[in-house]
Amino acid sequence: MSRQKFIAGNWKMFTNAASAEQLAAAVVKGVAKVDRVAVAVCPPFPYLERVAQVVKGAAVALGAQNLYPEKEGAFTGEVSPTMLVDVGCKHVIVGHSERRHKLAESNAFINKKVHAALAAGLHVILCVGETLAEREANATDRLLDEQTTQGLAEITAEMLARVVLAYEPVWAIGTGRNATPEQAQQAHAFLRRRVGELCGAAAAEKLQIQYGGSVKPDNAASLLHQPDVDGALVGGASLKADDFLAIVRAGIG
Ligand code: 13P
Repeated sequence: MSRQKFIAGNWKMFTNAASAEQLAAAVVKGVAKVDRVAVAVCPPFPYLERVAQVVKGAAVALGAQNLYPEKEGAFTGEVSPTMLVDVGCKHVIVGHSERRHKLAESNAFINKKVHAALAAGLHVILCVGETLAEREANATDRLLDEQTTQGLAEITAEMLARVVLAYEPVWAIGTGRNATPEQAQQAHAFLRRRVGELCGAAAAEKLQIQYGGSVKPDNAASLLHQPDVDGALVGGASLKADDFLAIVRAGIG
């Protein structure tokens, strides 16, 4: 089955008002020449509205990097799924390893976010991935199993249609050391099998699974050519329009 490739830029806590607009404008311009690949950018919260204006009408979707799993309420400093929809977001990243490890987010909390995002009409990019210690202890499959099973608890096949998984091995994030295409393929195939057991094989077959972790223009094609690698979640290289667009082009195949 051929799944459309999906390339998303996670800008993390980078850019400012001016550079966010410039970066988004350059991505919009570059993507105008590219079809067949879905593209999204995920700026920091304060710049979502500005970037929404820039990408309006273009083939670049807007995503947020986080949300709080309640519609509204006394949650000082948090942002609700409905607010994200309100400012024009289509996607939201959930379960990023930086939030799991630096902010101690649990699988149960992440699962609440997945449900809240879907209930508000958002599409979810659910990140999973093992640390180096887990990989070296041969615990990769167990960890991916745990994060997927718990992160997708009570998610039906119908709901899965608005979920994208992102396999992001922690040891490859921001390190310049990407997973090899074979390592990525192995993890993605494992994830697809596992999701098949949870939500049914047909839904799992349609599921887009992105790879994330030091994706650059020079390694993107070999990763994206793997049969179960359906896109990329790009950190550092998404902050340079030329690099990000080169990765988008690599997705055309
Ligand atoms: P890098 O591409 O900077 O390694 O970051 C990957 C990532 O965490 C995307 O969410």
